[in-house]
Amino acid sequence: MNDSRFQSDEWKIIETRFDPVRGRDSESIFSLGNGMMGQRANFEETYTGDSLQGTYVAGVYYPDKTVVGWWKNGYPEYFAKVPNAPSWTGIEVKIDGETLDLARCEVKEFRRELDMREGLLTRRFTAVMPSGRTVSVTARRFLSMSEPECAAISYSVTVTGGSGKIQISPWLNADVHNEDANYGEKFWENEMAECDGMRAVVVAQTRKTGFVVATAMENTLTVNGWAASVAPSVDAGKMTAHCSYTCDYSPGDIFELRKYVAVLSSMNHPAENIGRKAMTAAGEVAQKGFDAMLQSHRDAWSAKWEHGDIVIRGDIEAQQGIRFNIFQLNQTYTGEDPRLNIGPKGFTGEKYGGSTYWDTEAFAFPFYLSTADTHVARNLLLYRYKHLEKAMENAGKLGFSGGAALYPMVTMNGEECHNEWEITFEEIHRNGAIAFAIFNYVRHTGDHDYLAGYGLEVLIAISRFWAQRCNWSDEKKKYVILGVTGPNEYENNVNNNWYTNTLARWTLRYTASSLDWLRTSNPVRYNGILTRTRLSPEKEISQWNEIIRNIYLPEHHDLGIFLQQDGFMDKVQQTAADLDPAERPLNQHWSWDRILRSVFIKQADVLQGIYLFEDEFDEETIRRNFDFYEPRCVHESSLSPSIHAVLAARLHDTDRAHTLYLRTARLDLDDYNREVKDGLHITSMAGTWISIVEGFGGMRIRNDRVCFNPVMPGAWTSYSFIIRFRNNPLRVEVAGSGVNVVNLSQSDIPLAVYSDNVTLKAGEEIKFIRK
Ligand code: BGC
Repeated sequence: MNDSRFQSDEWKIIETRFDPVRGRDSESIFSLGNGMMGQRANFEETYTGDSLQGTYVAGVYYPDKTVVGWWKNGYPEYFAKVPNAPSWTGIEVKIDGETLDLARCEVKEFRRELDMREGLLTRRFTAVMPSGRTVSVTARRFLSMSEPECAAISYSVTVTGGSGKIQISPWLNADVHNEDANYGEKFWENEMAECDGMRAVVVAQTRKTGFVVATAMENTLTVNGWAASVAPSVDAGKMTAHCSYTCDYSPGDIFELRKYVAVLSSMNHPAENIGRKAMTAAGEVAQKGFDAMLQSHRDAWSAKWEHGDIVIRGDIEAQQGIRFNIFQLNQTYTGEDPRLNIGPKGFTGEKYGGSTYWDTEAFAFPFYLSTADTHVARNLLLYRYKHLEKAMENAGKLGFSGGAALYPMVTMNGEECHNEWEITFEEIHRNGAIAFAIFNYVRHTGDHDYLAGYGLEVLIAISRFWAQRCNWSDEKKKYVILGVTGPNEYENNVNNNWYTNTLARWTLRYTASSLDWLRTSNPVRYNGILTRTRLSPEKEISQWNEIIRNIYLPEHHDLGIFLQQDGFMDKVQQTAADLDPAERPLNQHWSWDRILRSVFIKQADVLQGIYLFEDEFDEETIRRNFDFYEPRCVHESSLSPSIHAVLAARLHDTDRAHTLYLRTARLDLDDYNREVKDGLHITSMAGTWISIVEGFGGMRIRNDRVCFNPVMPGAWTSYSFIIRFRNNPLRVEVAGSGVNVVNLSQSDIPLAVYSDNVTLKAGEEIKFIRK
């Protein structure tokens, strides 16, 4: 049974009730984006009820001065935040002088519909205004996927009964603020507005960082389908621009305003004449028209779905859930610009500031790697490559030297901007996730050129960091890594976190073997890298090998498990089932010290490592660790259930995998964490995709071959997904007793299903028996 707020539908999210209490939740859910900009689903007409206004422009950030109680040396001075940008969605409606505002109306009918296939948001309502006038509105909007600096709104108003004067005024406003501003400061300055005939623009500049954003509009009005004969009055103040149409209305007249918008940023245009340019761009899309613009936007979405859809039969909620996740991931990042990245909330809220976290490599990367053209994942890697110098500076501030790099935990421009000591200084495993993404990219795409041209420099710098971060313990006669925080943020300053130590060892090994590969395959490039990085193979690589052989990896031999860190077994051993449900989530009920002392794990930690390096362990080892750690995990990070779901599926525990999967698939739609008002969990949405493709589908890349080991959740009758291997699309369908694989490309694809190795010829389809 569907007890969601939203109707069940394979392709749409449908809300049928106006619920002002959950207004912010819906603003997040119905957010739109196109990689270049994003917009919460704020109403077009005036709304005086509770709302989080959110308009975001990719890459534009403001360094908000940090507030900390106790300053620690090495803390960054600011937290980079994506500013709420000048607002372009507004359309004020006045009927006989009375402003239409749903917070003051009796709302008779309300329906909001997000069509994910087309990327189109439609809202319809009928409302009775305080004066008794009944108004019906249909608003449609999209942020163009084919012209990513442009958006369009069609807004139709009908007044039922009576006649009089209607005024429809589309506007732009640069006088905006961020709710999460640390000092209540405005992030924008030098706002100015300008009109030019039918067009208007507001231009604003971010304080300190100097990004300039120009937001322009051109509007058209029709009455009952005919161009309105009334000329609009266009006027601009310092920060706002209005365009106002005043007309007579009679019962049933339909007034349709079309608002064409262009948002240009100085990231992509010279700042000097950006306002004029934005007006020209708005004029060009107005010329093209709403329907033609919408058609090319639909075509762009259709290409995205063609290469990345997942179809689930037999469970409509699961279908809706996964499409919502794929839709949001594609709205957040399109991979055309290596200066951009993926904030944990994408363009849907202010929380996490829109900045880049380890989430990108650890969770989001596999989605883009498998569903988009190779250049998309490559651009995500290039983002880190371009920040290498800053990562070295960052390591320098913390006392490391000689080309060692520590990438930031949170960043916009390569500088660290997180300032909680346990995360800033201690969550160093993020370096490992970045190294692993390079490996994952190369094995997936076969693009060894990236490794030689860029990847190795990053790997060397990260390896140098690990080598310096280890120290020799005379007591243990091993290399140890002290004072870290693992992925489990419910423990800080631990020694020998198994995940971190394992990643460090793996990175050193991968870097050394990649260097060896280049030395034999291309000595000229190899020497070039040695010169560029001043790497001394005799000294440094032999030191790395020494650490690889002798790093300490804590284990509990009697239980046959890896130990999350030194001393983990000293804790009172309990499981999440022992907890009083009224005390969940722990972070909202327990004091922090109590959480730290407890055995409870926030998100996969040892299991995150087993997920990455699964092939190094036999099935029994995976099972013992899973059975020990999963019951101790409270999954209080949205990133947690998906990794557990993959391992449960790997262990053929399909029911458990499905239960875990359900915790991620509709996390935002059904608001399990009661925080969707702040924005969507974009990076955990990639985890949901991972649970299907790598979990149920069992996809792995091994020895230059794409492998599948599918299992079927009991609740589904079939599922299928499309992935790319070596940039060649492949469709996998699991149904009944069979696994059907179709090669959709022009090239042969080496493949394994269960243990059958085959080469699937271009266009060929093969059916395997499900095991
Ligand atoms: C998680 C981190 C994650 C951050 C942003 C936290 O709750 O513990 O691993 O990077 O959220 O998604």
